[in-house]
Formats: sequence, C-alpha cells, structure tokens
Amino acid sequence: MYNIAVIGGDGIGQEVMSSCEYLLDKLDLEFSFKYGKAGFECFNKIGTTLPKETIKIANKSDAVLFGASTSTPGQPSPIINLRKALNVYANIRPIKSYKGVNCICDDIDFVIVRENTEGLYSQVEYGDENKMIAERHITRHASERISKVAFNLCIKREEKKVTCVHKSNVLKKTDGVFKESFYKIAEEYPQIKTEDCYVDAMAMYLVTQPQNFDVIVSSNLFGDILSDEGAGLVGGLGLAPSGNIGDHNGLFEPVHGSAPDIAGKNIANPCSMILSASMMLDYLGEWDISNNIKHAVEKVMSDCKIRTPDLGGDSSTMDVTKAIVKELT
Ligand code: NAI
Ligand code: MG
Repeated sequence: MYNIAVIGGDGIGQEVMSSCEYLLDKLDLEFSFKYGKAGFECFNKIGTTLPKETIKIANKSDAVLFGASTSTPGQPSPIINLRKALNVYANIRPIKSYKGVNCICDDIDFVIVRENTEGLYSQVEYGDENKMIAERHITRHASERISKVAFNLCIKREEKKVTCVHKSNVLKKTDGVFKESFYKIAEEYPQIKTEDCYVDAMAMYLVTQPQNFDVIVSSNLFGDILSDEGAGLVGGLGLAPSGNIGDHNGLFEPVHGSAPDIAGKNIANPCSMILSASMMLDYLGEWDISNNIKHAVEKVMSDCKIRTPDLGGDSSTMDVTKAIVKELT
C-alpha cells in the first residue's frame, strides 16, 4: 500500500487531480490518499498558501501529487516552498511528441532536468522604490548534485548526450560555477557525450533541431522557461508532466498552472496530471503500470477522437480520463 499526499490546489489543479484519482482507483494497486490544502483559496480561508499540516502530510507520504495553485499577491509560492520543504531538488520534465497531436516535428523525445532549490527562484528580493534586487544563488553542491541526476537519467533512458544550458558569458560567476560543476561530474561518466550551450541559443535550437537533444540540465529559471517552450513544441501544457525528486521523497505535478481562463468548465486536459502520476509510479518502482498508463495516453492521442479543446477536440476532462482508463490493459 502506498501513502500518497494529494494536493489539488486551485482552478484546474482540482479538476485534473480528480481525473488522476479516478484513474489511480482503477489500477491494481492500493493507495491511501491523504489530502492537503495549498494555494490561493487556501490562503483566503486560513491565511497561508502552504499550511504546516500540508507539509507534514507530504513529508510522511511515499510520494506527493500536486495539481496547481493560483499565485497569491504578496505571498510566497506554495509549490516552490513545498519543493524546498521536501528537498526535492531535481525537477524532471520529459518532452515527448505524440502521434496524432500537432507537433513541430514528430520525433521529439528529450527531458529537461531543472535545478529546483536555488538560482533566481531563491525568492530573496529587496531594494527601494527606485531599485530592486533579486538574488541568484548558485552553489557547487547543488550544481554538482543536479548534474549527477542528469547523467544518471541519461543512463536510465539509454540515451547518449547531456547538454548543460547556462549563460556564463554574462553571469560569469554564478553560471561559471554551474558549468564547471557539470564538467566535473561529467568525468565520472566518460561513456556519455557532453556539450554546453547558452540559454538564448538553446531557446532557438529547441525550435530548429529539437531531435538533437537527449537530456538537458539547467538552473531553476532557465529550466522553467525552456520546459514551457518544450511543452509548446509537442502540443501544449496539457501534455507536459513533471516530477520533483529528492533523496527521500518525490512530488509529481503537471507543468501547467491553475489556468483560470478555463477553470470550472470541465475542459482541462487531464493528460499532464495523469502522465505525472505515471512518473510517480515509475518512481515507486511500479514500472509496468507506469508504462501501461503512458501507452494508454499515447493510444487515446493517436486515435484522434477523444480530446480536449486545447488539442482541437470538444471532449471533456472526464471523457478523456475515461478513454484513457478504457485503454489500460
Ligand atoms: P497556466 O499554465 O495556468 O495556463 C497557460 C495557458 O495554458 C492557459 O491558456 C491555459 O488555459 C492553458 N492550459 C494550461 N494547462 C492546461 C490544461 N491542462 N488543459 C488545457 N489548457 C491548459 O499559466 P498562467 O495562465 O500563466 O497562470 C495561471 C495561474 O497559475 C497563475 O496564478 C500562475 O501564477 C499559476 N501557476 C502555477 C503553477 C503551479 O502551481 N505549478 C505553474 C504555473 C503557473
Ligand atoms: Mg513554469
């Protein structure tokens, strides 16, 4: 039996989480779900975007599922702080093209490994009304640790190359450390090809030659931006899952936010959340079931019949969820 912390959050976060639970209930596995609150609605009710109780539930779980949260003015981001609280330092974002879904090209299959605990997302900002400063923290420890995750993932995926993305020509000190750490760890993996690339050039290469990449490793903000770009390459945020992995826990969430523009309409694409749950099952060692879910999503996408409006269809969130469940073998 797996203890899973379930944090739906706001907007479509709640909707895609319901879909995900519906699917998990159909599997031949036992889960004990413990529910935690987080986000904007939570703040309006109890005055915090991330209650201590939620962190406690997450800490005690085997893995965490997170939907999405709407940002609350003047308050810290609950997901950034939850990732920090659980020390899930590696954000893994697979980018894959699906047959039947309009993509920039049909053989895209790479993964972005984003450092999750520091960089420009340290949330340390200060100044006065004329000048504001945001601190960009880059440590050797976190940079080496994230590079290791990238190389190990390259081996697990049976791929050839890891690409380090940075901007060390301008951010000489911080990204100097990031790049140096990458090449230091690379020495432990002589069988894997390495290269590094400036982030602005990478933004272009992802559009012009996305098939050339296997594993991309980057700092927090660059990884965040490139992974939304990656999602755009393969059909949008509705198909982009992610996992946040640490030494003691894993937190799985779609790349997208709470999408207020479509919330409450039962038209959110549940695939990103369902694929995140598949990543969770892979993390828990349930490889066959994890693959089964991925194949079911692939099948529903390639059939081109049942799909939500973001992919050009007119089906509902639950229609797509049920179609995926039907394909589970
Ligand atoms: P968003 O990801 O919520 O939406 C961007 C666009 O993609 C919207 O047009 C939306 O309708 C569409 N979209 C996203 N997910 C979709 C899905 N599953 N199916 C169909 N269409 C989908 O980003 P946005 O609009 O910038 O932010 C909305 C709120 O979410 C903000 O308050 C933002 O701070 C928050 N946010 C939260 C995140 C998290 O909790 N991890 C991540 C990103 C944003
Ligand atoms: Mg993002």
